[in-house]
Amino acid sequence: MFDKLLYIETFGCQMNVNDSERIVSMLTDLGYAPTNDPASADMILLNTCSVRGGAEEKVYRRLANLRIYKRDGKKQIIAVGGCVAQQEGEELLRKLPYLDLVIGTHNLHLLPDMVRAAERGERRSETSFIDNDQRLDLFPSIKGESRLSRFVTVMQGCDNFCSYCIVPYVRGREISRRSTDILSEVRQLADEGVREVILLGQNVNSYGLKTGNEPTFAQLLRRVAEIDGIDRIRFTTSHPKDMSDELIACFADVPKLSSQIHLPAQSGSDAVLKLMGRGYSRASYLDKVHKLKTVRPDIVITGDVIVGFPGEHEADFEQTLSLMEEVRYIDLFSFVYSARPGTKAADLNDDLSRAEKLARLDLLMQLQRRHTSEISQNYIGSVMSVLVEGEGKFPGQVSGKADIGRIVNFAGESSQIGTFTDVKITKAYPNSLLGELLA
Ligand code: SAH
Ligand code: SF4
Ligand code: F3S
Repeated sequence: MFDKLLYIETFGCQMNVNDSERIVSMLTDLGYAPTNDPASADMILLNTCSVRGGAEEKVYRRLANLRIYKRDGKKQIIAVGGCVAQQEGEELLRKLPYLDLVIGTHNLHLLPDMVRAAERGERRSETSFIDNDQRLDLFPSIKGESRLSRFVTVMQGCDNFCSYCIVPYVRGREISRRSTDILSEVRQLADEGVREVILLGQNVNSYGLKTGNEPTFAQLLRRVAEIDGIDRIRFTTSHPKDMSDELIACFADVPKLSSQIHLPAQSGSDAVLKLMGRGYSRASYLDKVHKLKTVRPDIVITGDVIVGFPGEHEADFEQTLSLMEEVRYIDLFSFVYSARPGTKAADLNDDLSRAEKLARLDLLMQLQRRHTSEISQNYIGSVMSVLVEGEGKFPGQVSGKADIGRIVNFAGESSQIGTFTDVKITKAYPNSLLGELLA
């Protein structure tokens, strides 16, 4: 039934990872099986990200490399999806004569038709945003092979318009999915053997706030936790300004809720936070972190920061380092500021040299490596419940995730895959932990 091969490369955030899963499942229905080898693929799709500058050029470079595979005379469909597709639209088709289709972030449901048209030699670009009413029925629905941990989209888009960020322009207005649809999807996943769900959206904790007739995110989370078979719940991403006391309370009394939270601060300086339009202060961010640590003492926090935002003085940057000292992130994703077309910050005076920005980034990353290492070393000797998801890196090992989100490898058997297993941590690496079965 599979007579064609699909090669897909995914860039950017988990929304794109989730969209790629959906693309694979839609194209399976058209007879495409996934492959890791672009040379043999009948269709190549790049699912792109435009959150930082140079994104378009990166896509062009990657396509130029992949195009060598199109030269043997065989028909191969070349497609671009995701946020660069949304941003550039038809322009991409004009610039790249070998490109067959461009599909925007609201148009995935059109993909099967577009692929059939491309198979007949038609070139198409679809990047219109869809009205919210219609979008409710176009939310991704689950399909495909059952695994142990799955994303469940709860909302899409973003209305925050942080001054540096392109996401609201390429993902469109924020919309919350119907809670009834979310809960029935989670129930179905539980029936298929899924043990962990990750509630997904750009700003999950503003879920329901604008609809009037849906629960809040905290209420939704409690309903998900009532579903038998689902034993662990995570969510990403949460915006600090919408981190309510009601949601913080879930960490106190919803044991299924993972002890890891991604709470991006972006900066530790009030002046910079204001210019970024983030809607919270350093003190209120730290207050929320403090409350989280009080109700869930073993919580681990991950975050994002931007270095070298226009107007970030040395003293502001030091505030970011001191925020890191106070929070002690287990992992921090740090980025040099990059001006994005059409955003408010793109008009700000950005006079800090690239070298200075990179020097700040380097300092920050050094500090983070120290924190990651200190926090991880502290886990040695502790016991963690690991959801075993597959074979480990080395023969005889299995691998899974602990409640704190860290990857744990240990000597075990494949019969343990799919179970929660207690593992004693014996060694800490920068990105994972090593453990042994509790005797
Ligand atoms: N919705 C998420 C973030 C999505 S973008 C949130 O609000 O937390 C992922 C990360 O990319 C952001 O957290 C930010 O740290 C970084 N980022 C976004 N725009 C950027 C830009 N113009 N330059 C550098 N980093 C940026
Ligand atoms: Fe971008 Fe801000 Fe929305 Fe996150 S909340 S996606 S950083 S605009
Ligand atoms: Fe990138 Fe789009 Fe996600 S710009 S970060 S892939 S929403």
